[in-house]
Amino acid sequence: MLMQAASPANIQRILEKLNTFNSDQAGGTTRVLFTPPELEARNYIKKEMIDLGLSVREDAIGNIFGTLVGTEPELPPVWTGSHIDTVLHAGMYDGMAGVVAGLEAIRMIQASGASLKRSIEVIVYTSEEPTRFGLGCLGSRALAGELSLEQAYSLVDAEGNLLPDVLKELGYDLSRFTDIAMPQGSVHGAVELHIEQGGVLESLGLPVGIVHTIAAPTNFHVTVSGQQRHAGSTPMHLRHDAFLACCEVSLKLEQLAKDSSSPDTVATVGKVEVLPGAANVISGDVQFTVDIRDSNYETKCSLVEGMRQFVRTVEVNRGVKITLEQINDDLPTRSDERIIAMLEQACQEKRIRYHKMVSGAFHDSMLVGRFAPIAMVFVPSKDGISHSPEEYTDYGDIALGTDILAEALLQMAQN
Ligand code: GLV
Ligand code: MN
Ligand code: MN
Repeated sequence: MLMQAASPANIQRILEKLNTFNSDQAGGTTRVLFTPPELEARNYIKKEMIDLGLSVREDAIGNIFGTLVGTEPELPPVWTGSHIDTVLHAGMYDGMAGVVAGLEAIRMIQASGASLKRSIEVIVYTSEEPTRFGLGCLGSRALAGELSLEQAYSLVDAEGNLLPDVLKELGYDLSRFTDIAMPQGSVHGAVELHIEQGGVLESLGLPVGIVHTIAAPTNFHVTVSGQQRHAGSTPMHLRHDAFLACCEVSLKLEQLAKDSSSPDTVATVGKVEVLPGAANVISGDVQFTVDIRDSNYETKCSLVEGMRQFVRTVEVNRGVKITLEQINDDLPTRSDERIIAMLEQACQEKRIRYHKMVSGAFHDSMLVGRFAPIAMVFVPSKDGISHSPEEYTDYGDIALGTDILAEALLQMAQN
């Protein structure tokens, strides 16, 4: 057991400094992949890694690895880390807490003087949020071998930039893209600390969650083509209103999710663009996003099938054309029982009460779990709020979670 506890003050110092790299003018945190504040935040974290004595490298998609070298560096290493990019107008903890906890855990392990057989790597995964390129977990997806360079060429931002072009411009070597994917067994185990982003821990009055399953998203980009017409002179029965078709599909999604036999099925239409977008014009075109999540892949597939069937009915009934472009269809990830047992044991030894739970949000660990045993530590989110400037987690709670994280990393690195 580590004698020294995580320092809430250290965690606060790095999180607050990270939050200065921020383009949000309205009091929240906005740090979008490869924009100036995100690049500055990357440099800042690399400097913190170097100050800890870690060796720092980056792969061809910009995943950053800070390595504390073990005595047998050829053995599969132990991983921890998370992301530092954000959604628009977000908070300062989602992702960042996990990176900072990883750095603090390294500091504690170093301070203990323990000898490590395996190396421990703190990782900043590139773009966990889909903010810029419409697809989440870009870095961890590439590590899992689920994002090839060819697939990366289909990712385009709002300004029309292709991901590989942006990488090339920043000096990343695309000829090394095929080296990113990690073979099965090449990582001994990975633990990510993250804020819970829901209200379960707070409602139970518990400081720590141990994630047993990460629910996975299936995302669609949907286009509805109706008929743009005059809002005053077109009687109701002659309309092919694209927006109303979108509304019907959205409400059906809500119903399908509520009727699901899995308690973790959720469905969201989060972004809608109505064209031409005028008070006195019936919309001719609508584009919208569909985000479906579930801890159970089968119930998620039946919801998707239900949506597809309903879409065909709406097309017929309303005389519109609806195109469903599937962006991703991810598999839920189960945590590794042995790592869960280590985390539970650490909680018991430190007399920290915990709750085993599902993560409704996705995380880089979902994809790391494709090639390595993973688990996650959750710390409470005030009022369950996240993806909002209101997001807040107590530094003391992050420190408690870091104590558990550090114990598991140490144990894995010594075995
Ligand atoms: C990650 O931010 C998610 O949307 O779950
Ligand atoms: Mn997020
Ligand atoms: Mn996150």
